Order: sequence, then structure tokens, then C-alpha cells
Amino acid sequence: MLGSPSPSRLAAVLAVTAGLVASVGATSPISVSGKSFALNGDNVSYRFHVDDDSSDLIGDHFGGPATEDGIFPPIIGPIQGWVDLIGRQRREFPDLGRGDFRTPAVHIKQSAGYTVSEFKYQSHNIVKGKPALHGLPSTFGDAGDVSTLVVHMYDNYSSVAADLTYSIFPKYDAVVRSVNITNRGKGNITIEKLASLSVDLPYEELDMLELKGDWAREGMRVRRKVDYGTQGFGSTTGYSSHLHNPFFSLITPTTTESQGEAWGFSLVYTGSFSVEVEKASQGLTRAALGVNPYQLSWPLGPGETFTTPEAVAVFSNTGVGGMSRKFHSLYRKHLIKSKFATQMHPVLLNSWEGLGFDYNDTTILHLAQESADLGVKLFVLDDGWFGVKYPRITDNAGLGDWVANPTRFPQGLPEFIDNVTKLKVANSSDHLQFGLWFEPEMVNPNSTLYHQHPDWVIHAGSYPRTLTRNQLVLNVALPEVQNFIIESLSNILGNASISYVKWDNNRGIHEAPYPGLDYAYMLGLYRVFETLSTRFPDVRWEGCASGGGRFDPGVLQYFPHIWTSDDTDAVERIRIQFGTSLVYPPSAMGAHVSAVPNGQTQRTTSITFRAHVAMMGGSFGFELNPAKMPDDDKAQIPDIIALAEKVNPIVVKGDMWRLSLPEESNWPAALFISEDGSQAVLFYFQIKANINNAWPVLRLQGLDAAAKYKIDGNQTFSGATLMNIGLQYQFNGDYDSKVVFLEKQR
Ligand SMILES: *[C@@H]1O[C@H](CO)[C@@H](O)[C@H](O)[C@H]1NC(C)=O
Ligand SMILES: *[C@@H]1O[C@H](CO)[C@@H](O)[C@H](O)[C@H]1NC(C)=O
Ligand SMILES: *[C@@H]1O[C@H](CO)[C@@H](O)[C@H](O)[C@H]1NC(C)=O
Ligand SMILES: *[C@@H]1O[C@H](CO)[C@@H](O)[C@H](O)[C@H]1NC(C)=O
Ligand SMILES: *[C@@H]1O[C@H](CO)[C@@H](O)[C@H](O)[C@H]1NC(C)=O
Ligand SMILES: *[C@@H]1O[C@H](CO)[C@@H](O)[C@H](O)[C@H]1NC(C)=O
Ligand SMILES: *[C@@H]1O[C@H](CO)[C@@H](O)[C@H](O)[C@H]1NC(C)=O
Ligand SMILES: *[C@@H]1O[C@H](CO)[C@@H](O)[C@H](O)[C@H]1NC(C)=O
Ligand SMILES: *[C@@H]1O[C@H](CO)[C@@H](O)[C@H](O)[C@H]1NC(C)=O
Ligand SMILES: *[C@@H]1O[C@H](CO)[C@@H](O)[C@H](O)[C@H]1NC(C)=O
Repeated sequence: MLGSPSPSRLAAVLAVTAGLVASVGATSPISVSGKSFALNGDNVSYRFHVDDDSSDLIGDHFGGPATEDGIFPPIIGPIQGWVDLIGRQRREFPDLGRGDFRTPAVHIKQSAGYTVSEFKYQSHNIVKGKPALHGLPSTFGDAGDVSTLVVHMYDNYSSVAADLTYSIFPKYDAVVRSVNITNRGKGNITIEKLASLSVDLPYEELDMLELKGDWAREGMRVRRKVDYGTQGFGSTTGYSSHLHNPFFSLITPTTTESQGEAWGFSLVYTGSFSVEVEKASQGLTRAALGVNPYQLSWPLGPGETFTTPEAVAVFSNTGVGGMSRKFHSLYRKHLIKSKFATQMHPVLLNSWEGLGFDYNDTTILHLAQESADLGVKLFVLDDGWFGVKYPRITDNAGLGDWVANPTRFPQGLPEFIDNVTKLKVANSSDHLQFGLWFEPEMVNPNSTLYHQHPDWVIHAGSYPRTLTRNQLVLNVALPEVQNFIIESLSNILGNASISYVKWDNNRGIHEAPYPGLDYAYMLGLYRVFETLSTRFPDVRWEGCASGGGRFDPGVLQYFPHIWTSDDTDAVERIRIQFGTSLVYPPSAMGAHVSAVPNGQTQRTTSITFRAHVAMMGGSFGFELNPAKMPDDDKAQIPDIIALAEKVNPIVVKGDMWRLSLPEESNWPAALFISEDGSQAVLFYFQIKANINNAWPVLRLQGLDAAAKYKIDGNQTFSGATLMNIGLQYQFNGDYDSKVVFLEKQR
């Protein structure tokens, strides 16, 4: 019968609400009252409870702090027809097959073949600090930084256990979630889908903000309305990819950069992922994030456990900018393990755009010498240095053979590197540091490795092994492949003074032999990253994947820097770097000055403009041949390096305020404010010439209103004046820029 709510269902609703009257204090990071739970941050509250009738976990709140103990009971109903109570509730761990018709967080094929699950609350415990996720990257912190709640759920019918982990970093308003599933039964089960995080938000209008792209145009912001039905994106490439980033934000329609509510979600994972946002029939919005279910189908035998990567959820009531700053500081301090995360970066010069594949030890040493003479601190030798039987002199041979090319380096690589590191940097007591390029996960069929181990590449039976960029992907899920990579790199890194490694990855995965390869590959890759980054802690590791194809938190756990994009055009880079900064700290971004006309866009911009854009990235450098530069440009390099070195500590450790966006303004601008607030640096750009309009006024943000700031060592203004009246500058023609220093007066 449709039309009127049945009395028994109304009773159920009342029982649900009764459970909520219990008081949950907001004083400690985790407070529990009966079966109600609250995670409390400085500016966030995340609450849920156990439903008395169903023992299901019901979400109550994810947003700004609630100051009262009691939570206003939600009004559900009347329930009439198809969608039962379970399909109307805000569920924390939605399973499949019992009347919740929305997208599930968990989908298991039981040993009997069913895909129904019924997880019920059993118990919970609170852990000090945060346990590491076994085999996966994860945020970390001690008991003063983070607290963890584990909720144990159990499906009595299938004997499957699920542990839901919730950690709160109060200072960053961040809740980190992950799930593990253990098969406690006697038969085999298959995990078809297991989201790291699923959260139901109340009935309200929301927009969704995400990053899309492709090779050479990563990090493009997209904002769209969340509408009825499921909308989402993901990656099936085997990696996080350029196409979409494993991040999204839900915002209210009125939220801007500097105002309004923003919920940010970021997956700490480098493999294929999936984002699903579903506005369901009653208007609630469900958001789920996790490994891509198309590439899972994970068999779980009796006693075995499957663990998801973790997902970080951040809440901001200070707009999208506030959300980004919380991600930035959380990731700098509690995700990136490298000691270099917040250290100044030596200005580098990479050989690729200067020499490509065409070099020998004399010409490379010459380029290194020129770099040192210009004040460059770190010289990076890119592709082409390896391969004996199949020398890497073109891109169709040598990958996999990580032994120096004896024709190019007749005295051996260590001796050559010694000569590079003996070079003195001009006007400095430093010697030049040396960095080297690798692409360890790949192999060319033209290689000794492939001839010895054709079975080591990813392949599906007799399907053709499709080549991309003439190369195949090694099956890093295999321990023998992991060990091969670890040992080949160790032999090189252990025998020469190498301070930096660029770890590239230039194609997606095809012909996976089984769906779960994606996750198994990542466990293998993380073992390799962990082993090498622990074995060589003094190496600065920079991730790269045809540019920003793996700009994700999983890589950042081990590598403090990631090359942001192969597009080095400065105008394009403003958009790419601002987009990437939605979630990732600028300290992590590799950004270099390259030659003009730009190889990707044919655009010509001044060396100053190119350098100013690149200085907004933590890992600043050059990707060009100084010998081919116009003399005027070359003469500016020492000054550019001096400026980059002055700016770098503020960019690497400070807070970024995106003052105006390249999508919205001809004058994009960003302000970086040092951690202690004593210094700030403004980057301000004009894209197109401004013909007979007034000059815009740029109002700063994030300053101390009462303090005085000296602008470029000249005039002094209060923070209030700078934030309310603003600064005004005049620009000259297309592609002009300013870098302005602010110093807080004592
Ligand atoms: C916390 O919330 C208050 C009140 O909305 C706001 O003024 C403040 O800027 C917020 N702080 C952070 C770090 O989000
Ligand atoms: C699960 O089943 C056992 C007996 O098989 C029973 O004692 C227990 O109460 C059940 N637990 C739940 C949560 O239904
Ligand atoms: C599952 O997760 C819980 C909570 O983090 C942890 O205590 C437990 O050891 C995990 N189980 C396995 C087998 O990893
Ligand atoms: C579970 O899977 C394993 C490995 O495939 C197999 O050896 C075993 O027979 C299976 N057990 C059952 C009960 O089907
Ligand atoms: C290295 O290359 C340069 C330029 O091609 C050439 O002049 C020189 O003879 C080469 N040196 C050796 C040792 O091959
Ligand atoms: C080194 O110092 C000299 C003299 O001050 C200056 O002309 C030159 O440009 C400087 N070179 C670098 C690389 O800083
Ligand atoms: C292997 O090298 C040869 C000789 O350079 C080249 O013709 C061939 O295309 C290469 N094969 C592949 C698969 O790249
Ligand atoms: C290294 O420098 C020494 C001494 O100047 C020189 O004899 C040797 O040929 C150089 N080797 C390389 C590989 O550059
Ligand atoms: C140096 O290289 C040799 C030969 O490849 C290797 O046997 C040795 O283990 C390496 N040394 C270190 C410290 O890695
Ligand atoms: C200092 O400010 C004055 C007044 O705006 C200006 O004329 C002058 O050029 C500035 N000097 C510097 C070094 O920026």
C-alpha cells in the first residue's frame, strides 16, 4: 500500500532519533557517549551514531563545530513506497542489497554467490596517534597531532568483518578514513568494491569542484552543479593519471575562494581510482572515493584481509582557499616523509631540453660547468645515460638496462659524476650537486632485461602486448621485479654521489592479467618506494609521469617533489599550478624555466615572466641550454637565481592565498605568507596588455590587520590597509609580472 506511512516505520524513526539525544561533548578530539561518536577539530565536527534497531552506522554531521551537546534529531519520512528507511538515512558504511538503492561503499560477492551484506556495529576502540596502513602510504602523526577511532562491524550471515578507521587531525580540520575487510568464514569471497570513504550530506544544493586534464594540461579546475543521479570520474589507466586527479571538493553554490563552506576529499593512492557523487531521490548527497571497482575483484580466502588506501576529508568554512591551505599544511607535515619536504630546494638545471639524447661525457660536463658558472646548484642528467647492448640513444631501446652506457661514459659513471660534483658554483662555497633520471617501471623490448625476462612485463595471455612510446610496463606486483628495481637503482645510487633522482613513468597500463593487478602493482610499487627512499634518505626524489600523470598523495609520501606538467609555457603553467594547488602544497611542485618559443605552445614570454611563474613551485630550475640563450636573457640568470633563493623558503613553508584566479582574471595573483607571518611574497601577473583601462586594485588576504608591513623595503602600510584598499601596479604589455616582498615590522 502506498500513500500513508506505516506506524511501525514511524516507530523506527522515533527510535533512531532517541539514540541521538545522548550528549557528545566537543572538548577532546574524539568523544564517545554510549554509541554516539564525535570527531572534533578546531573548526570541524564529524558525528555519527549506531542505530539502536539496525546496528547500522548513521551519519549525523560533517561540517563546522556544533557547540551544543545534543544533536537535533533528523526528521525522516513519511516513508511511503519503494525507498525504505535504510535508503533515506545518512549511512557511514552503505552496503548493498537491503533496500538502500544508492551507490554502495562496499560490494562483496559472498562465497555462496550473494552480493547482499549486512554489516552491524559490534564494538569500537580508540587508539592514540594513528597506526600506519600496512603496505600503503598514509598520513602520520603522534598522539598530540592525531587520534584514531576504530569501529568494528560484522556481517553475521557471511562471517565477514569490517574495521572502519577514523582519524582526526584537529589542527587541520581533517578526518582520515580507511576500511579493512577480513574474511572470517570458511569459503572464498570477492571484494568487488570497497570505498575508502563514503559520506552522506543533508538535502542541500551543492557544487562539485575537481581537476581534469590530459598530458601537458593537467590540473584544470572544473566546477559543476551536483544534480540528481550519479556524477563522477576516475582513472582506469593503472595510475592516478593526468585525466582526473584523485581529489574533489563539494561546495555550496555561493562558496568562493575566500568564503563559504568547502568539503575536500583526497585519496592517498597512485593507482586507478573512482569518485562517485550521487544526489539521490530524497536529495541527500552521497560522496564516495576509493580504488576503482573495475580494477579490483579481489579474492579473499579464509582469514585474509583487504585494506583500502586512506582518504582525507577536510572541512573549511573559509572557502576553497581555506580548504587548500589545510591540505597543504597537513600534507607538508604529516604525509611527506622526506626531510626535504620543507627545506629550501637547490636551483637545478636539467639537461633534457638542452641536449636531449645527443651527448657524451664531454658535452654533458660542459653543460654542467656552464650551469655552475651561472649559479645553478644542482645539475640533472636526464634520459639517455644507460644501456650497454641496447644503448639508450633513441626512445626505442635500453629501458630496463640500468647500467651506464660505456660509449658515452668510457671512464664509468661514478668518475664522471665525481667531475661534476667537483665543479664550484659561481660566487658560492658550494660544489655542484648531481641528479639522475630513471624510468624504473618500464622496459623496451629492445633491452637485455626483456630478452632475459619477457614474462616480467604486464601481459594477458596471448593478447598482443601493446606498445606505447615503444615501451612495456614491468609487473611491479611481482617480488622479483620489485627486487630487480631496488637492486639496479641501489647499484647506481650506492656507487656515486647522487643527490637527486627524477623517477619518471611514461605510459598507462594495458592488458592487465587480472582486475586486482592495479592494487597489487601499487603494493609492490610502494614497497619499492619505501625501500629506496629509506635506503637513500639523502636523495631528493622527484616523481614524474609524462609531467603530472602521478601528482597524488601516494607518491608524495615517499617523494617530496613532483614534476607538475611537461607544459612549461608560463601562461599555461599559471593555470596548471593554481589548479594543482587546490589540494597539493606548492612546495611539492616542480616548475622550471624553459626556452622560447615554448615547445608546446610556440608562445614567447620574457625570461622574467617565465621565472616568476616557476618560482611559485618549490622545486625551481631551468630546462634549457644556456649556450643557446640570447645574451641578455643569460645575463639575467644570476639575478633570477638570487630572487628564487630569496622566495623559495617562503613558498616551501608558507601559506598560499590565491588572490585572483587565472580562469577569472587577466591579473592572476597569489600571496605566500611565511609560517610565522613575518614575511610574505606576492606574485602578480598580467596576461594580456591593458589598453586604456584603469589599473586594477589587488586586495591582499591573510595578513595581520593590526601589523605594519614594509613593501619591497620601501613604504609601510598596515595589514588592514593592504587587505581593504590593496595595492595597485602598472604593467607593461602582454605577459608582465611583479614579485613583491612584504616584511612585517616589529
Ligand atoms: C574557523 O572558523 C572561524 C569562524 O567561522 C573563522 O573565523 C576562522 O577563520 C576559521 N579558522 C580556520 C583555520 O579555518
Ligand atoms: C550473530 O550471531 C550470533 C550467533 O550466531 C549471535 O550470538 C549474535 O548476537 C549475532 N550478532 C548480531 C550482531 O546479530
Ligand atoms: C584492520 O584495521 C584495524 C584498525 O586499523 C586494525 O586494528 C587491524 O589490525 C587491521 N587488520 C589487519 C589484518 O590489518
Ligand atoms: C578458495 O580459493 C583457493 C585459491 O584459489 C582454493 O584453493 C580453494 O579451494 C578455495 N576454497 C573454496 C572453499 O572454494
Ligand atoms: C663528444 O661530442 C662532441 C660534440 O658532438 C664531439 O666534438 C666530441 O669529439 C665528442 N667526444 C668524444 C670523446 O666522443
Ligand atoms: C658573481 O659575482 C660577480 C661580481 O659580483 C657578478 O658579476 C656575477 O654576475 C656573479 N655571478 C653569479 C653567477 O652570481
Ligand atoms: C628496436 O630497435 C630497432 C633498431 O633501432 C628498431 O628498428 C625497432 O623499431 C625497435 N623495436 C621496438 C619494438 O621499438
Ligand atoms: C675527470 O677529470 C679528470 C681530471 O681533470 C680528467 O682526467 C677525466 O678525463 C675526467 N673524466 C670525465 C669522465 O669527465
Ligand atoms: C656498486 O656497484 C657494484 C657493481 O654494480 C655493486 O656490486 C655494488 O653493490 C655497488 N655498491 C653499492 C654500495 O651499492
Ligand atoms: C618607493 O615608493 C615611492 C613612492 O611610491 C616610489 O616613487 C619609489 O620608486 C619606490 N622605491 C622603490 C625602491 O621601490
